[in-house]
Amino acid sequence: RLDVTETFNGILFPGHLHTQESLQFALTFLFQDRDIVIASYPKSGTTWMQQIVTLICSRGDPHVSHTVPNWTRAPWLEQYYSEALMESFIKPRVITTHLPYQLLGSAVQGSKAKIIYVSRNPKDVVVSFYHFHKMAKFLPDPESFSNFLYRFLEGSVHYGSWFDHVLGWTNQDADLNLLHISYEEMLLDPKGTIKKVSSFLQRPLLEDEVNSCVKHSTFSSMKHNQMINYTLVSQEIMDQSKGPFMRKGGRKQRYSVVSDVFTAIFVKFVIFLFS
Ligand code: PPS
Repeated sequence: RLDVTETFNGILFPGHLHTQESLQFALTFLFQDRDIVIASYPKSGTTWMQQIVTLICSRGDPHVSHTVPNWTRAPWLEQYYSEALMESFIKPRVITTHLPYQLLGSAVQGSKAKIIYVSRNPKDVVVSFYHFHKMAKFLPDPESFSNFLYRFLEGSVHYGSWFDHVLGWTNQDADLNLLHISYEEMLLDPKGTIKKVSSFLQRPLLEDEVNSCVKHSTFSSMKHNQMINYTLVSQEIMDQSKGPFMRKGGRKQRYSVVSDVFTAIFVKFVIFLFS
């Protein structure tokens, strides 16, 4: 495993992709008004939104999304390679981040950068994150699912607490140009989501262009697209024989209001016990 860990402001990050300098670079980054920022907690639909934004920016033409890897067309601001990429980036810059608002807030506050925050039901995030730990060699072995769930609820997994992440970015008081989209909304209404995002980005599309964005951002189309399914990454870094990056997609269970309220109370109770 390559699971060297960088601890930055009390949060763990994979050392394979992050350094103290790269994290510091993100915190002092000068956002420009034309920037498009995709912010998310891991496993919440980041890659899917990268694909949607790329397609919207090229008016549904799939060429870029089939020829440029997602980490080059929408790099993670906090990862070690991004500083070099930012210099040669064509405008608008599409920037991805998994950093919590608690860390990136002061850099992004006051800019007019268009931020798309993607969230996903934590029950699905934790399952997806657990499987990702098994195949991503830059993350520690997750051990048993119950152990991993415990650490996820406690907020001691890599990238920190899901709860702090979602609350931080969606805080009503933060003065941001932000659109909050949920993974579940993307699943239920992909076309509506694409229209919403394109209108937020002030890039209105024709109906045919919207349909092309939908077509090239479906789960099956992305699963077979090398530029987004991480099969370009070597097995020593991501061992997809342990399970594909594009694993299942979707919701693992049907949620009902009653079960969601029950889960929320349960989660609060567990956090209270651990705090
Ligand atoms: S990462 O590693 O943080 O960038 O992961 P992220 O992209 O945020 O999340 C990966 C999960 O998103 C699913 N995914 C999709 N679901 C439905 N439709 C589309 N088009 C799609 N693209 C990615 C992917 O399968 C991961 O979820 P799980 O539950 O593991 O399958």
